[in-house]
Amino acid sequence: MIGLISSDIEKYASSKTSAQSNMLDKLVKETHQEMSMPQMLSGHLEGRFLKMMVEISQAKNVLEIGMFTGYSALSMAEGLPANGKITTLEIDAKAIAMAKKYIEQSPHKNKITILEGDALTNIDKITEPIDLVFIDADKPNYYNYFVKVLPKLKSGGLIIVDNTLWGGEVLSPHTQDGIAINEFNAKVLEHKNVSVVMLTIRDGVTLIRKH
Ligand SMILES: C[S@@+](CC[C@H](N)C(=O)[O-])C[C@H]1O[C@@H](n2cnc3c(N)ncnc32)[C@H](O)[C@@H]1O
Repeated sequence: MIGLISSDIEKYASSKTSAQSNMLDKLVKETHQEMSMPQMLSGHLEGRFLKMMVEISQAKNVLEIGMFTGYSALSMAEGLPANGKITTLEIDAKAIAMAKKYIEQSPHKNKITILEGDALTNIDKITEPIDLVFIDADKPNYYNYFVKVLPKLKSGGLIIVDNTLWGGEVLSPHTQDGIAINEFNAKVLEHKNVSVVMLTIRDGVTLIRKH
């Protein structure tokens, strides 16, 4: 990932943020050793942020779109109550295998359900009202994910969207992903029944609250 914040500031912010578990340390290490694009993992600062958003919102039913090796799903699961649940969608078999290994070791394993396969198809299997959604899969589908999850989101529910600054490319979009993110950022604002705040955390994190 292209750093928008200086690496010294990122390190300082991380050092002044609550620590993650030893298990998440190991997951990060193995992801960097085994996966071809380890930078997709959200990481310490954003992981603690996601956990806190789950806690603050008192979410009980969370949906994640784009699990990768399980880092953000495991982080959010920590913030859920014992009877809370997170459904996470992922298509990549190697990422799923690694995530399963760590989820199995987690005290929060019973809260996590993986739906394997294409996320756009699997969203249709979600029938219970959702409190919080984390969108972090393929960028060209971001708006499609948003449109599909919005009716399933409870009033007052929250959608958190990752990489909405796309390394700063949103100022001058020229790649397929950059153009898609830029269009997504514009189109969500056209919806009348949501409030939107873009945070400059890491690669850009947008909060969308349904009225
Ligand atoms: C940026 S990574 C997710 C990172 C993860 N949330 C974390 O913080 O560690 C995006 C993931 O979306 C998955 N993905 C991409 N297209 C998908 C699709 N159509 N359906 C399901 N998953 C998809 C990729 O395989 C990848 O693992």
